[in-house]
Amino acid sequence: MADLFNTDKRIRLGIWGLGRGSAFIKAARELNIDVVAGCDVNPVMRDAFRKECPEAFITDDENEFLNYKDMDAVLIATFFMDHAKHTIRTLEAGFHVMCEVTSFYTPAEGVKVVEAVEKSGKVYNLLENYPFTKENMYLAKLYKDGFFGEFQYAEFEYLHDCRSLCYCYNMPGAPTVEPGYTAHSWRSWLNFHYYNTHSLGPLMRITGLRPEYISAFPEAIPLPGFLPGSGMSKPCPSLIKMSNGGIMRNMCGATTGNYHNGKRFWGTRASAESLDHGLRMRIGATGEGMRTIVEPQWPELAELAENAGHGGGDFWELYYFAREILTGEKAPWDIYNACDVTLAGIMAARSTDNNGAPMEIPDFRKAEVREKYRSDNYCWQQPFDPDKIFPDGHDTAITSNFNKAIYNIGKNSILLRKAMDGAVLYPNIINAAEKLEVIKNLNAASAVLDELENYRNMADKIINAYPDSLAAEALRSMKTLSEPEMNDGAEILAEKIRETIKKLLEADNK
Ligand SMILES: NC(=O)c1ccc[n+]([C@@H]2O[C@H](COP(=O)([O-])OP(=O)(O)OC[C@H]3O[C@@H](n4cnc5c(N)ncnc54)[C@H](O)[C@@H]3O)[C@@H](O)[C@H]2O)c1
Repeated sequence: MADLFNTDKRIRLGIWGLGRGSAFIKAARELNIDVVAGCDVNPVMRDAFRKECPEAFITDDENEFLNYKDMDAVLIATFFMDHAKHTIRTLEAGFHVMCEVTSFYTPAEGVKVVEAVEKSGKVYNLLENYPFTKENMYLAKLYKDGFFGEFQYAEFEYLHDCRSLCYCYNMPGAPTVEPGYTAHSWRSWLNFHYYNTHSLGPLMRITGLRPEYISAFPEAIPLPGFLPGSGMSKPCPSLIKMSNGGIMRNMCGATTGNYHNGKRFWGTRASAESLDHGLRMRIGATGEGMRTIVEPQWPELAELAENAGHGGGDFWELYYFAREILTGEKAPWDIYNACDVTLAGIMAARSTDNNGAPMEIPDFRKAEVREKYRSDNYCWQQPFDPDKIFPDGHDTAITSNFNKAIYNIGKNSILLRKAMDGAVLYPNIINAAEKLEVIKNLNAASAVLDELENYRNMADKIINAYPDSLAAEALRSMKTLSEPEMNDGAEILAEKIRETIKKLLEADNK
């Protein structure tokens, strides 16, 4: 695509953190971007990257990576709380930066990142992709054209049950975290309020408004199977006052109903909602207006965006970044917008620590405001160290099975719950295809019962050896998902499932 930006100049990109980072290789190929280097401390990630980019310079050493001079820009997709440190190092090494969400972990780090960007004169973009789905770009265009009138109230959701990702790598095939007795470095415990960009980000981009105040109550009820105290285990709703006085409910977290991109949006002239039924609009400037479902289209470059995968969002992030470097036209997520969304997450966590008290979201565009936060090192108190979920001196011959056991109990319990709970609902399910799915689920669950039993036994060995450990508590909790059914053992349950299928089908045929 040499003529996309009216130039044949190309950008040589290095990727730092090759899990999520590697997801951009495909989209880069569609733009003027060559992936020339990759860095990851984990050999599993490096090997997968090498297959995709055999010509690239690949290293496990960040110093060596930043010393690689045949590079113009770096995409940072390292651990969540290291982004500020890595951004500053990369800018100082003379490269443009694209950084995964979020930009920094404490307000004080935010001040340093802003100053580093301003000093460097380099392009900095936050890699927040959800605003660039087809649906959200369409809503942004309508809002800009005045279709919705003034923003009044919205509910945006990023609900993602990341339970399995506490124990496995986020890559195809989901290998469990090595060496087996440590949990994922941040996904196992982070307060989900920090991961707010996929829900607040779209509203900010659709309306052009910034968040000013935020309030969030602490949530007490976790989903089973997380390590105790994990901030990733709960729904994390917050209320945000936007800069025009409108309000949003930002809902991120883990629940039993994922809505990765759910939304309800009210303007003074029209409203829109999208959960999982397409984009439904209500028009007529009244609560009783006409309802209609519409199919959004890309504003431009449809084919390229479609081919890039990830709902198109990854394509647009890279597109805006390349465009800013090659033509100077500003990208949406500059450092200041990145600060707005990142600080909203930090202040939500601070609000939960203060029983829901409203917190101001400072505007880091203003140097005098930044000054007040220069020494503000607030962060939500980490509930445990994911490297220390067993007591010191634990027997690794036993504990190295922890991730394998908990991950596979979780995976197979999901099949079992879908099957058994589906059987409960079966007589009341209206849709024939869904009824068939329940029967298929019952058969699929039957096929994994022995495996589930093996992993439950593996878990029991760990629990018996270290009953008071955090790991044992998580295992006991994950096991409840396959109870009471598995209490009688796989063989008896398999027989019960056969009977259940027979009864359900017989009742259907009456
Ligand atoms: N926008 C999105 O849709 C989206 C999706 C997934 C992840 N993310 C973000 O991407 C980032 C990475 O997430 P992930 O899913 O790949 O999981 P992850 O955090 O496990 O991956 C980080 C990778 O960086 C490597 N790494 C960490 N520190 C390093 C260092 N100093 N030098 C070299 N390598 C290092 C790790 O070995 C790991 O492979 C996170 O910040 C996450 O928030 C965003």
